[in-house]
Order: sequence, then C-alpha cells, then structure tokens
Amino acid sequence: MKKKVLIKKASRFVRKSLENAEGGHDWLHVKRVLRNARMIMKKKKADKTIVYLGLIFHDLADPKFNHGDKEKGIKLTRAFFEETGVKEKTARKVINIVQNISYNGGFQVAKKLSGELKIARDADRLDAMGAIGIARAFHFGGYSGRKIYDPGIKPVKYHSEQEYRENNNPTINHFHEKLLRLRKQMNSRVAKKIARKRHKFLEDFLQQFKRELKGKS
Ligand code: ADP
Ligand code: NI
Repeated sequence: MKKKVLIKKASRFVRKSLENAEGGHDWLHVKRVLRNARMIMKKKKADKTIVYLGLIFHDLADPKFNHGDKEKGIKLTRAFFEETGVKEKTARKVINIVQNISYNGGFQVAKKLSGELKIARDADRLDAMGAIGIARAFHFGGYSGRKIYDPGIKPVKYHSEQEYRENNNPTINHFHEKLLRLRKQMNSRVAKKIARKRHKFLEDFLQQFKRELKGKS
C-alpha cells in the first residue's frame, strides 16, 4: 500500500474510534501533534511515515481511559496493521512509539530512543504546554473529578508510575508535577524553541493565578 493511502486509512480508522474521546485526547489532539511533528521534521531527518503513524495511533486506547490496560492500544494497532498488510518491520517501529511515547510520571525506563520516537514525544509533549496545555489540563481535571486547586494539598513528588496515575490531586498541582518539567525534556531544536515560549506562558498563568488568589488585580 502507498504510504499516503496508509496514513489516510489509519487516520480515518482512529478518527472514528476517538469520536467520544475526552476533549484533551481526541482526534483534534492527534491533528495538533501531527502538525507539531511536521514542524520538527522540517529541520530534522526521520522516517516521516513512522512518526505520523505512531502519533495517529498513540492515544487510540490510552491506558488512563481503559482502566490502566496498556495492551489494548497495542492490540488494536497491531490488528489494523495485519488487516492492511503492513510490513512487520514498519508495524514494530510504530508500536515502539505507541508503547513508549507516554510521560507516565517520568518513570519510563531509560533506554535508547529511536529518532522517530524522540520526535513523536516532542510533538505530543508540546501539546501539554502553553495555552492549549492549560485548557487540556483543566478539561482532564474536570473529566476525572479533580478540584481546580486546594490550598491544603501541596504538589508532591511521585515515587512510582502507579502513584502518579492513582493520585487525584487538584489540576493546578499537575503544573508542578508534570507540565513545568516538559521544557527540559525536549529533544529537537525546534521543539526546544517552541517549548521555551509555552513554558513561559505556563509560568505567567500560574503567577497571575496566585495573584488573584491573594485578592490582587
Ligand atoms: P502521558 O499520557 O504522556 O503519560 P499524561 O497522562 O500525564 O501524559 O497526561 C496527558 C495530558 O492529560 C496532560 O498533559 C494533561 O493535559 C492531562 N492530564 C493528565 N494527568 C492530569 C492531571 N493529574 N491533572 C490534570 N491534567 C492531567
Ligand atoms: Ni497524546
């Protein structure tokens, strides 16, 4: 199958599957990260098809929304590739992205990352920063029943992936627990540059948030 046709087919399949997805992890999120990846790959050589397919499938069955099931998304991705007759080598590279893209509280095992995985991670993580990142965090917070903020609950340092996943802390804490850490984790130059601006926006937002809590203008 031609690469273009394959990407179209995969997009159609995932778009349909994400019809009822939570607003921060829906098809529009996928579209934004694909655009981020395109920007990064203008300056960085990589197998574009692998990056695009990895991102198309990366949130197909996010464990967060599937009772922690890490296998579901991989099974669905594999099934799609079998049905479309994609080469095993390609399928394996794409699944490597799906399996390893997640931040997971920063507990992912350190191992050699492929160039394609690095780009996919940058693209996905940029969407957790800046104005869109703020919107997604509060949307997810509401969706999962979190408070906006709670002066009695301070940000914490998690000691395991499970602890990170199982906490129900206020959304504002998530800025300290994850979002503000993303800037330093970017791999490509393009992503680092965009992350700098989006990080600043997160800091400005938090500063104003604190001001207003104190009753200031
Ligand atoms: P990943 O899927 O890469 O491991 P996360 O699951 O931590 O990343 O989160 C993806 C996005 O979902 C975050 O960038 C944020 O917008 C939202 N999100 C996840 N966990 C929380 C949380 N505890 N509070 C608020 N938003 C969250
Ligand atoms: Ni994502």
